Amino acid sequence: MKVTVVGSGFYGSTTVQRVAEAGYADEVVVIDIIEGKPQGIALDMMQSRSIVGFDTRIVGSNGYAESEGSDICVITAGLARKPGMSRMDLLEVNAKIVGDVTRQLVATSPDAVLIVVSNPLDEMTALAARVSEFPSARVMGQAGMLDTARFKHFVAEKFGVSPSKVEAITLGSHGDTMVPVPSLVRVDGRPLTEIADAETIDWLVQKTRDGGAEIVALLKTGSAYYAPASAAAKMVEAVATDSKAEMPVCAWVTGQYGISDVYLGVSAKLGRGGVEQIVELPLSAAELGALREAAEAVRAKQSDVTQFLS
Ligand code: 2OP
Repeated sequence: MKVTVVGSGFYGSTTVQRVAEAGYADEVVVIDIIEGKPQGIALDMMQSRSIVGFDTRIVGSNGYAESEGSDICVITAGLARKPGMSRMDLLEVNAKIVGDVTRQLVATSPDAVLIVVSNPLDEMTALAARVSEFPSARVMGQAGMLDTARFKHFVAEKFGVSPSKVEAITLGSHGDTMVPVPSLVRVDGRPLTEIADAETIDWLVQKTRDGGAEIVALLKTGSAYYAPASAAAKMVEAVATDSKAEMPVCAWVTGQYGISDVYLGVSAKLGRGGVEQIVELPLSAAELGALREAAEAVRAKQSDVTQFLS
């Protein structure tokens, strides 16, 4: 099992670490244009192997030759938000970077599953799918796992329970039209809608939507990476181990919820084929309406994203 991560910033390098330490991959290749950085990161992590206890080889490179024949490629390349920026402000600059990275990955790893995490997420996933010309099942984006983890965190803190006791999910976009789904939240088995008033639920939903921006404002020089890298690594693991685990991802929808032909956050089963099955969840009328609105909002942006390719 060979995994490539493009981008050796905090998001990329933390993803490499998590995947390597999990032990299911034989080799993880980390690629960056900055000379020496991916090689240094690889050497440092390789030296941790006898302490942590894993055998995965980690290889750093400034080119794509080392990544040849990868089974899974994670694209983290591109700029992160600065305080006050929306993810959409990165559209033009990151489209050029993600387009270029995708072309190079496709040339060397034509059978890979692509997992995109660069922002704006839904648009960059659609772009990678278009540029790669891969079957849509083999291209997906990471956002729902992260947004869901944030939703669970805020609910767990509010009710003083372990996040493991919270069931929750977010759908829709990784942006303004994110759709946290209160009707499906359970806190220690109890429906959120029975134990919280409307004001509390609205607060939890808004905290979740703003979860990334809150961290950007605190860090000032970059965006979140610990929770995002955990989310990406979980998706890599599901594909690598062919686990069929169900998780929220940005996937190509084909009629689910009455929505077609757009990359959108939905719940899906992942395996070696990539997105193997989209699972339709029971939503309230308001949640379904919000999901359809999200689909139309991202559809408009996704359809013209290729104009920014260099
Ligand atoms: C976030 O929400 C990086 O978009 C990512 O933190």
